[in-house]
Amino acid sequence: MKPIIAAPLLVLLTTLALPAHADRYSVPKNAAFEEECASCHMAYPPQMLHADSWRAMMGDLSRHFGSDASIDEKRRVAIADFLVANSGGRKTGNTRDAQGRPLLRITETARFEKKHREISAATWKRASIKSPANCTACHTQAAAGDYDDRSIKIPK
Ligand code: HEC
Ligand code: HEC
Repeated sequence: MKPIIAAPLLVLLTTLALPAHADRYSVPKNAAFEEECASCHMAYPPQMLHADSWRAMMGDLSRHFGSDASIDEKRRVAIADFLVANSGGRKTGNTRDAQGRPLLRITETARFEKKHREISAATWKRASIKSPANCTACHTQAAAGDYDDRSIKIPK
């Protein structure tokens, strides 16, 4: 039988072995958010945008990136509160445009641009990808909040 110390020590060693850049953004449980905001695209992690961005977006869902995503007022307020409460801090980088308005796209934040600098315009336009907003095309485990390098697979 192994000595009793082995299990915790193993956990510690495994934790230390994880790469420093391992990136996790799991989406906190929220039924209304999952029902209303994950039908046209994945449920984006609230941590990826600033509270001001979520407030601006949730203030006008009838003109949501060319789609009408409007919902009843009670749900709208509840989801807005959820997003603001879980919004991002330092990790989001710059989240305002040149005029100082809150950015509405995660894909336009400084952090996103920095992390995706090496992807060419042609790659973004591939039929298998279509849009930078289509995270799950490349981040195979994005739905589980896992953006680690090891789970990235850029489709042809
Ligand atoms: C009727 C379909 C639809 C619904 C419902 C919807 N969206 Fe969207 N959303 C879109 C489309 C279309 C885009 C633009 C996608 C693209 O550029 O490829 C988008 C983009 C976004 C983006 C920006 C992605 C980027 O480029 O970084 C965020 C954030 C977002 N939606 C959040 C939400 C939230 C929060 C809700 C729920 C309140 C919601 N969406 C519901 C259609 C929808
Ligand atoms: C065309 C494929 C592709 C799409 C689409 C894509 N990414 Fe990425 N993403 C990558 C690659 C490649 C990297 C970088 C890896 C590196 O340089 O280590 C990356 C890195 C990241 C990282 C940093 C991971 C780390 O380990 O530091 C995050 C977070 C991330 N992406 C989030 C997103 C989100 C959110 C979306 C959708 C809004 C998205 N990505 C869309 C390919 C993609």
